Amino acid sequence: MEINAQTRLCILIGNPVKHSVSPQIHNSAFQALGLNYVYLAFRVIDLEGAVRGIKALGIRGASVTIPYKEKIIPLLDELDDLAQKIGAVNTIVNEGGKLIGYNTDGLAVYQSLCAYGFEPKDKKIILLGAGGASRAIAFVLAQKLGSGEMIIFNRTFERAKNLAQEIKAKLKANVRAMSLDDALLAQEIKTAKILINATSLGMTPEVEKTPIPKNLLHSDLCVFDIVYNPAKTRLLSEAEKIGAKIIAGIEMLVRQAGEQFRLWTGKPAPLELMFEKGRSALEKITKQDLTS
Ligand code: ATR
Repeated sequence: MEINAQTRLCILIGNPVKHSVSPQIHNSAFQALGLNYVYLAFRVIDLEGAVRGIKALGIRGASVTIPYKEKIIPLLDELDDLAQKIGAVNTIVNEGGKLIGYNTDGLAVYQSLCAYGFEPKDKKIILLGAGGASRAIAFVLAQKLGSGEMIIFNRTFERAKNLAQEIKAKLKANVRAMSLDDALLAQEIKTAKILINATSLGMTPEVEKTPIPKNLLHSDLCVFDIVYNPAKTRLLSEAEKIGAKIIAGIEMLVRQAGEQFRLWTGKPAPLELMFEKGRSALEKITKQDLTS
């Protein structure tokens, strides 16, 4: 596809962005649908300047990553209701000069669970972590729980407690908080159907770490790890070995990009291709890490 004077631009803003695979994922999708768009990553130090640039240059949209998902909010013109509740934005859409913030992270986890046959409705869910990623997931799943329940476990109990309280105040959902403790986990996990790791435990380079001892896992669980590097974390390997269903972090990575694509272009994303490109780009990064 030719880049010409009508080409529309979407960007990633964050710091660092060097290892992002979003450019490969988004550009492959634009090309597959024959859309005259390109996607580029920018390491941003001056966030206000970058936001002014989006408006001044008529950039169509942006992905927002660490460390700007919260800091970007006061710089935007409007917030989608879910992003407002979560308090973090991972997507900007420029509608004729008006910048609107969205959050597609939680929806991506919901879509992944449904795609694997684990619709959260009326189930007991254990969510590990109470950081930014966990907030996005917790707010979306809380809306889908029906008569089910969600327990947020976190090393820093205060954080889990505050998140659970916030969710209860904003949505009518059965959400509790606990501290990340093996004895407490052992009690609650027996009757749980879904376990989601939204902590950073197990991420490269600390691949030997895992948030939960393997003897607590059971075969009636669906275990979802949002860590995507390595592709299969220790948690997922151990869960797979005992016969639990597993969902890898690439699912959230690609599906959150798929929702961004839809918001920017108005078209459904070619997810299969995006998965393929995402996987191969991540493999390349892993090889580079091993050789550097
Ligand atoms: P993200 O945006 O990826 O969610 P974050 O906001 O820094 O990143 O959150 C990281 C999560 O991983 C938190 O829940 C954190 O627990 P604390 O709130 O107690 O910091 C969790 N986490 C990180 N390292 C951990 C460790 N070694 N043991 C247990 N939890 C850990």
